[in-house]
Amino acid sequence: MAIAFLNGDYLPLEEARISPMDRGFLFGDGIYEVIPSYGGRLVGFDRHKDRLCEGLGAIGLSMPFSPKKLHEILTNLLNQNSALNSEGNLGLYLQITRGEQPQRNHRFPDTVTHTSFAFPFSIPAPKTGDPEQSETFRVITRRDLRWSRCHIKSVSLLGNVLHMMEGVAQSCEEILLFNDNDELTEASTSNVFIVKDGEIYTPPLDHQKLGGITRNMLIDILRDHGTVPCHEMAVSREQVATADEVWLSSSTKELSPVTEIDGCKVGSGEPGPVWSMAQSLLNLHRFDY
Ligand code: PDD
Repeated sequence: MAIAFLNGDYLPLEEARISPMDRGFLFGDGIYEVIPSYGGRLVGFDRHKDRLCEGLGAIGLSMPFSPKKLHEILTNLLNQNSALNSEGNLGLYLQITRGEQPQRNHRFPDTVTHTSFAFPFSIPAPKTGDPEQSETFRVITRRDLRWSRCHIKSVSLLGNVLHMMEGVAQSCEEILLFNDNDELTEASTSNVFIVKDGEIYTPPLDHQKLGGITRNMLIDILRDHGTVPCHEMAVSREQVATADEVWLSSSTKELSPVTEIDGCKVGSGEPGPVWSMAQSLLNLHRFDY
């Protein structure tokens, strides 16, 4: 049975309750994080903590915990939920909203009592870069119809959910999104990398993309340990269509090869050698970044 954290208490997940007047429920007024852990060790705690603080700042909501307290909460959740995954591979979902208000009102309340909620879930063992081991993705492509603040990790994910369901309707697992200039933004739940002629490319961060922790960590690891260059630059629809490899990145997917786009094979249609190199480097160095 999963143990959750809710406003200072640890309790069975199914017993956790929040008010229907919570602004997270009524307005999607909150910020979330998904933090992976392997073998009982959190990945990228400082990066997740910093992004959480930035997201809260962007919506004018204070951070309810000190970094030390946040670390303590997440560690307690890992310890209390060790039975969920015998190898200690758990994701932690953490959500902080602007809390409950007596009446529905778009305006922020003068006094805020945050709602802080976190729960664990089992995640797969870390990938080594072995192509046999990795889940692969088939995707479609669409114009990115989400809002203009995708850099904020808001719990308001309906735009992402509707894009995901466009992919699902085509029997695909993800969807690659393009802006009005036909440049790649990201996918509905992941950032995107492509490989062409042995070099790696990923779109630069702006308000149309989330600054993914996996993305940013990988770029830093590749800079220090990689054997091929990684460029942050605009990636056109044409470049995606003719790429040798395409990968998705996220805290729960790590690096995942895309093998088919709009019904056409990517490269050989199998996970590529540059993916294998990058995933094995991520696996080796993730706890140092
Ligand atoms: N999603 N872009 C979007 C739109 C995302 O939802 C995510 C992650 C990412 C990758 O970010 P990170 O590397 O920090 O996980 C990029 C999480 C996992 C989710 O919503 O479940």
